[in-house]
This record gives sequence, structure tokens and C-alpha cells, in this order.
Amino acid sequence: EHGLHPPEFNWSHNGMFDTFDHASIRRGFQVYREVCAACHSLDRIAWRNLVGVSHTNSEAKAMAEEFEYDDEPDDEGNPKKRPGKLADYIPGPYANEQAARAANQGALPPDLSLIVKARHGAADYIFALLTGYPDEPPAGVTLPVGANYNPYFPGGSIAMGRVLFDDLVEYEDGTPATTSQMAKDVSTFLNWTSEPEHDERKRLGAKALIVVTALYFVSVYVKKFKWTTIK
Ligand code: HEM
Repeated sequence: EHGLHPPEFNWSHNGMFDTFDHASIRRGFQVYREVCAACHSLDRIAWRNLVGVSHTNSEAKAMAEEFEYDDEPDDEGNPKKRPGKLADYIPGPYANEQAARAANQGALPPDLSLIVKARHGAADYIFALLTGYPDEPPAGVTLPVGANYNPYFPGGSIAMGRVLFDDLVEYEDGTPATTSQMAKDVSTFLNWTSEPEHDERKRLGAKALIVVTALYFVSVYVKKFKWTTIK
């Protein structure tokens, strides 16, 4: 069963030749870090993946160093910690699934790395879900204890409550952090995490199209010469 069909948004990366809006990816990462990361992991993204996409090398390095990772044990075999490096993956909020469920009344916040690919409606769905919590469930709908109503979630009853509210984050580029702006940016960010090769794919596609078009005209020209004598 699907939830309510999400509206289709005019994402700036929708076109055949359109790449992601990287300023939006950067703001979306901030939303992930300051809001979603409290409950959701992003297992497939390493700090280095952000370099050149949304952050500079030194910015990504500084963020990695804010976390501690397990290091090789010392000479006596005692566990050791070290600050994060660019090659490390972004750490999740919980030690394991049990801890994640315990903190969320039994529900499991899914890893968000591939969520855009995993859900029907892709980025449109994420945006609609985040902005789609009505103040009250519709008349006649009764929800299990602790559940929230969201028409875009299959079944309508979701363990995650509304998490985005106006001005929850402060964007460094001065963009007003409205609920819909944050939802747009984090959806764009999660679209990127689910297909980090997206921009390169479209650039290669454009190049391939140019080459194939050129070859086509060459073949038309050559054909004209080869066949002139026969006509
Ligand atoms: C589920 C996104 C913040 C707890 C989900 C789902 C998405 C999502 C896409 C999956 C829905 C589905 O299965 O189709 C986000 C984003 C966040 C955010 C983008 C930040 C803007 C949070 C926070 C919490 C949380 C802060 C905890 C307080 C959960 C839980 C579920 C969930 C428990 C499972 C819901 C269920 O299966 O009923 N979230 N989330 N999320 N999220 Fe979040």
C-alpha cells in the first residue's frame, strides 16, 4: 500500500543536463547534521565524499575530527581512540539496532543514505513527508500511542513526528530557514547521497550526445560522397 501520492516538484536537477544545486546540498547537509542525525545514520557517506561537493577539504577534515573512532589497540592490548579522518564514514547515532529501537519506542529510523532510491516518489516523497504533518489527524482516524499522522507515509501512521519547524537551523548563506526550505535542502542532500555519481553521469551523457551527433553528420557527409557516382 502506498501513501498519498506526493506532488511532483520542479527540482533544479530534474533536467537531462541539470546537475545538483550544490549550495542546497550544503544547506541540506547542515539540516541532516543538526536535525536528522540525532536519529538517522548515513552509513554509506564518508567525510571525504563531501569534499568538492558541499565542503572544502579542511572543512570536512574539521568535521571528521569532532568524532572519535576506534584505533588499533595499544601495546598492552587496551582499546584506543583517535580523532576522525577524511576516510572515515559519518558515524550513526546509535550503537546498534536495539539501541535505536529503544530510543524510538520500538521503531527503527532507517539509514538515510539510499532512502531516496528506496522509496516510491524519491525526493518528492521525502519533501512531502517532512512538510506533510497536519496539526490534527483527520476526523475518525485513531492512531496507536506514540504514532503520528502523515498521509504520505504508507498506512498514515508513522513513528517519526514532525521534526522541521521554521528557523530550526541558521543557514550561513543567509537563506531563510523555513520548514519548506529545510525540507527542500535535506531532500536534495539525500538525493545526492543516493546517487553521488549523478552530476558526472549527466556531464558524460552530454559529451556522448555531442560526439554521437558529430559522428552522425560525418556519416551523412561521407555517404553523400561515396554514392555520388552511383546516382
Ligand atoms: C523514518 C527522514 C529526523 C525518527 C524516516 C523516514 C524518512 C525520514 C525518509 C522513512 C519513512 C519511510 O519509511 O518511508 C528524516 C529526515 C529527518 C528526520 C530527513 C531530518 C530532517 C528524525 C528524527 C527522529 C526520527 C530527529 C527521532 C527523533 C524516525 C523514526 C522513523 C523515521 C523512528 C521510522 C518511522 C516508522 O517506521 O514508523 N525518517 N527523519 N527522524 N524517522 Fe526520521
